[in-house]
Amino acid sequence: MKGVILGGGKGTRLDPFTRIINKHLLPVGPYPMIYWPINKLKQAGVTEILIITNKQDLRSFKELFGNGDELGVKLTYTVQSEKGGGIADALVCAKSFVDNQCIVMLGDNLFDDDLRPFIEDFQNEPYGAKVLLKEVKDPKRYGVAILDEEKKTILSIIEKPDNPSSTFCVTGVYFYDKNVFDLIELLQPSTRSELEITDINNLYIRGKGLRYDILKGWWLDAGTHEALFEANKHFFETRLE
Ligand code: DAU
Repeated sequence: MKGVILGGGKGTRLDPFTRIINKHLLPVGPYPMIYWPINKLKQAGVTEILIITNKQDLRSFKELFGNGDELGVKLTYTVQSEKGGGIADALVCAKSFVDNQCIVMLGDNLFDDDLRPFIEDFQNEPYGAKVLLKEVKDPKRYGVAILDEEKKTILSIIEKPDNPSSTFCVTGVYFYDKNVFDLIELLQPSTRSELEITDINNLYIRGKGLRYDILKGWWLDAGTHEALFEANKHFFETRLE
């Protein structure tokens, strides 16, 4: 399976740093943030990886990691035409890269769990889509999943609800079959003018269904100052390789 890592967006919650530097190049432990999702994929045996970023940041990414030789992976890069057009808008850029299925990771999502069992599980049923969830104290900040725990499916996902009726957030780790690219074409921009990944996931729910697994270990969306500090503490304290 091939991997896609999103490293674009505006990173406004990390202003003023993100006025001059891409969020995913900010330090987390001894490496730039995006090193960690690349490493997670590599450890799980996914070595063909596409990084999607903004036009003005492409050069920095290439200078940093080149073709990925040093990291033991094969990296290619592409540019999202509309900066901040949304996660689903960015994913469109992976259409010609993906063969049958892919794992998609948001470049600001950091976690301890090993991806291998989740990847193997999706490869056993390589159709439809699957997301990884995490129980959190502040679900309002995320896509929130309402579950049918008996059937192990998701009934709906609400993006950043004011009154969340579940504590399960959808993390930035997604598995899709190639149908995802047709579904993106059906999307309309949301109220925040983005093509939302939550809308894609809800389309899967209404179609073949959306499967899920739950991350057991530490997980963080490093997109705010507090979370970035937390991420640095975590990686220096646990000294994860
Ligand atoms: O972290 C998990 C959450 O990520 C999910 O629970 C939400 O459902 C999902 O919408 C997303 O929410 P955020 O508001 O945190 O997304 P953010 O705008 O921070 O972007 C997430 C990542 O995707 C980040 O690494 C940058 C990248 N991105 C984002 C946009 C909007 C792009 O590459 N291009 C884009 O246009």
